[in-house]
Amino acid sequence: MVEITVGDVCNVDDIAQFQVDMAMESEGLALDYERVRRGVQAVMDDDAKGRYIIARLDGKVVACLMITREWSDWNCCWYWWIQSVYVLPEHRGRGIYKAMYNKVLDLAKAEGISQIRLYVDKENSTAQTVYQKLGMAECHYCLYEKDLKI
Ligand SMILES: CC(C)(COP(=O)(O)OP(=O)(O)OC[C@H]1O[C@@H](n2cnc3c(N)ncnc32)[C@H](O)[C@@H]1OP(=O)(O)O)[C@@H](O)C(=O)NCCC(=O)NCCS
Repeated sequence: MVEITVGDVCNVDDIAQFQVDMAMESEGLALDYERVRRGVQAVMDDDAKGRYIIARLDGKVVACLMITREWSDWNCCWYWWIQSVYVLPEHRGRGIYKAMYNKVLDLAKAEGISQIRLYVDKENSTAQTVYQKLGMAECHYCLYEKDLKI
């Protein structure tokens, strides 16, 4: 039985390892584990930075995602971003992400959130298919970034 929890202060090492594995699997990126670990701990310590939604199966953490928020002056309300999505490979295709996503939708409705957004690597066709199957649409914006190397 999958249990979904919100704002859960759970094992930082599990979540940090998920992020390192996800970056390597989906983008071929080797993240610095200790830096990621500090980033995860910062979220656990401070709700303003974000909130994790965690999925457990028989008590073991098997998946996570993080919610962060963005103010929209156009709509005078908050948008949420879904980030850091990872389901352990052996637990995929069984509805775990869907259960976490539905939890996000329920929470968002309860908290008056106007829109849910996420970005995904252009090559990550599996995740793109999953997001579309669950009712999200590709938007007309391109994402731009500048790395300030701090
Ligand atoms: C993308 C990912 C989070 C999906 O998690 P999951 O728990 O396997 O997804 P679910 O089982 O909840 O499936 C949700 C829907 O997508 C479909 N789906 C799942 N995997 C699929 C696949 N490989 N191909 C096509 N459809 C798929 C399911 O059938 C389901 O659709 P339905 O409700 O119409 O039946 C998971 O594959 C993962 O962690 N990938 C590696 C990390 C990653 O890419 N993260 C995203 C970064 S943006």
